[in-house]
Amino acid sequence: MRVVMLGPPGAGKGTQAKCLEKEYHIPHISTGEILRQAISNGSHLGKEAARYMNRGCLVPDPLILDIVHQRLLQPDCVPGYILDGFPRTLGQVRRFDTLLEEMEQPLNAAVSLEVRLDMFVKRLSARRVCSNCGSVYNLSSTPPKQEGACDSCGGQLTQRSDDVEETIQMRFEIYRHETFDIKNFYIAKGLLREIDGEGTIEEVYKRIVQHLKDL
Ligand code: AP5
Repeated sequence: MRVVMLGPPGAGKGTQAKCLEKEYHIPHISTGEILRQAISNGSHLGKEAARYMNRGCLVPDPLILDIVHQRLLQPDCVPGYILDGFPRTLGQVRRFDTLLEEMEQPLNAAVSLEVRLDMFVKRLSARRVCSNCGSVYNLSSTPPKQEGACDSCGGQLTQRSDDVEETIQMRFEIYRHETFDIKNFYIAKGLLREIDGEGTIEEVYKRIVQHLKDL
């Protein structure tokens, strides 16, 4: 099964994609995560990406398209995957569509998580990430047992550098500007499904799984 997760920053794409990864045994591919990893490795890609990400701007399409193409060629993607954070521009969605045609691997669904503006600002401000294993927490909805420490590995919890209010606003503006066209693209293909992204993580997850079962 091949699925893309759409939705504004903080809609819960990563959280839900991780749950789907466990249920369907297919990889969760987050372009944001790949880029953050490249930044922490100090690679050339990371240095280039950081110039955009720190301001909440999108990394140029050619860089992203190359990353995704290389990732989809890996053997673990043969049974399918859940893409989180991609595609994000009209250029990306068109190129991705052509790529899937060339690979003869049609997309099964584009799931768009819908949440109110005040909700995702709240979620992002309270998000904390383990600097060691990458586990994601939320100080309001899923806090760690011990303040500042990861439940799984004891690693230090930190705030993502783009989870500050000014950058969140910029990310949202970009989302609003770019995403309309992406949704229309998938509506025209009969693949888009808008899912209510509010409620508990489990409630949202049940809605997504129900939709995927109905396909
Ligand atoms: P990326 O990492 O993709 O960030 P994003 O799209 O802004 O999305 P987030 O990761 O912030 O949110 P999410 O929807 O995954 O929410 P989460 O599940 O964590 O991209 C970062 C940057 O990389 C971009 O700005 C850009 O610069 C660059 N980039 C990446 N991809 C690119 C591309 N294709 N093209 C160009 N540039 C690209 O949840 C958020 C919080 O809420 C967590 O704390 C979670 O625990 C909590 N939560 C989740 N669901 C619920 C719920 N139902 N109830 C209560 N709390 C919840």
